[in-house]
Amino acid sequence: MSLEAQSVVIAGGGSTYTAGIVMMLIENQDKFPLRQLKFYDNNQERQEVVAKACEVIIRERAPHISFLATTDPETAFSDVDFVMAHIRVGGLKMRELDEKIPLRHGVVGQETCGPGGVAYGMRSIPGVIELIDFMEKYSPKAWMLNYSNPAAIVAEATRRLRPEAKIINICDMPVAIKKSMADILGLKNENEIVDRYYGLNHFGWWTELTDRQGNDLMPRLQEHVKKFGYAAAVEEGNPLLGEASWMDTFQKAKDVYAVDPDTVPNTYLKYYLYPDYVVAHADPQRTRANEVMENREKNVFAECQRVAREQTAVGTAIEAGEHAEFIVQLAGALAYNTYERMLLIVENNGAIANMAKDAMVEVPCIVSKRGYEPLCMGEIPDFQKGLMTQQVSVEKLVVQAYLEKSYQKLWQALTLSKTVPSAKVAKEILDELIEANQDWWPELK
Ligand code: NAD
Ligand code: G6P
Ligand code: MN
Repeated sequence: MSLEAQSVVIAGGGSTYTAGIVMMLIENQDKFPLRQLKFYDNNQERQEVVAKACEVIIRERAPHISFLATTDPETAFSDVDFVMAHIRVGGLKMRELDEKIPLRHGVVGQETCGPGGVAYGMRSIPGVIELIDFMEKYSPKAWMLNYSNPAAIVAEATRRLRPEAKIINICDMPVAIKKSMADILGLKNENEIVDRYYGLNHFGWWTELTDRQGNDLMPRLQEHVKKFGYAAAVEEGNPLLGEASWMDTFQKAKDVYAVDPDTVPNTYLKYYLYPDYVVAHADPQRTRANEVMENREKNVFAECQRVAREQTAVGTAIEAGEHAEFIVQLAGALAYNTYERMLLIVENNGAIANMAKDAMVEVPCIVSKRGYEPLCMGEIPDFQKGLMTQQVSVEKLVVQAYLEKSYQKLWQALTLSKTVPSAKVAKEILDELIEANQDWWPELK
């Protein structure tokens, strides 16, 4: 039986991840056939570099796919089945400030955790909401699969502002960690692992891991994590781990694990459980944004320009990793009813029995044409419940601050973040963030 071909728009066509997703789409034409692929971005110049390369790749490898890149919402969002979104509102330049401003006050400076994540959240909310509105106007039956960060705050904002929207917020970190777990355990890939996991985005724990035959993988993995964190994959060429900062994060999981040896953790917990370590090892003059600009962004754009110039992608370095694999697999599950099990960011509604119903949590879901159905993870221990309750409140306060244009609520959000030592420091950081985000945030009262 042949599968019905799909039409996809990638929103944030100029993203450093777009070309990888295109590669994955092309490689998956047997499982997820495309009739049309479109790029949408609000920065034409940036998008064009990626689009010109992808045009060559599609012509060489999948000429049946009709392709266009546009900055016009109607052209982009009409006649699509899926919107794959990964926009960065304010770009890497604003990310740099999100990271450097808190660091000046001795506080974690990170893309999605702590004050940097709060600042980025305030910028992302209107950008993602606008994409939903375009989708609902021009292709009301489509699904939006959203990677745009900070996913936790974006998810809470979409829950509040567009509760009926067909959006699924996702993160590739658990998939990347599971890829490392598979390497550590000698399994073929992350799809060999069946997991039970609960948490918030960039804030969660695995409680059970088995292989497809049901054999318990946890004891062997815990023994490894206890000594090395998730670091075994470093030499294996996991693209995320190529850089020292990611290597450190995967190794630091060892110390995160030590705090609760009954589970294995998401790597991002290092920012909440070891903020002093993170700050001590950060260079306030050169943060992750600088690394990304000098490495991923530079390399991807140079390779795209090369492909466009030579008009061939034979031997190209552009690759599809697990980031691309996850979003394409999710789209396939929704389109073709595969009932696969995937970790998604969804409204709790009892999935974690002793957490608020309206918290946006990350739990395993079964995905099919009906959408996603979260699985019940039961009650969680006090340690995780306490941490998560605090962090959920931070995320909710940011969205309330955005909606009410409230300085007070944003100050409360920063004060409540486990990464911030006092209300005084929270206020100092907030005042600098307001100054830096004048062009992006609503004016706060
Ligand atoms: P990038 O800056 O290279 O690309 C983002 C693109 O979005 C740019 O081309 C920019 O012009 C465009 N853009 C910005 N605002 C827009 C708007 N309002 N409308 C349309 N286009 C807009 O960023 P990147 O490093 O490739 O990352 C892209 C996004 O994906 C970021 O939000 C990043 O945090 C996120 N991401 C998330 C995960 C996850 O686990 N959820 C994983 C990887 C990346
Ligand atoms: C992980 C996280 C993402 C994050 C990405 C890139 O995959 O899940 O949320 O955006 O890393 O981080 P980087 O620092 O490399 O831009
Ligand atoms: Mn993520």
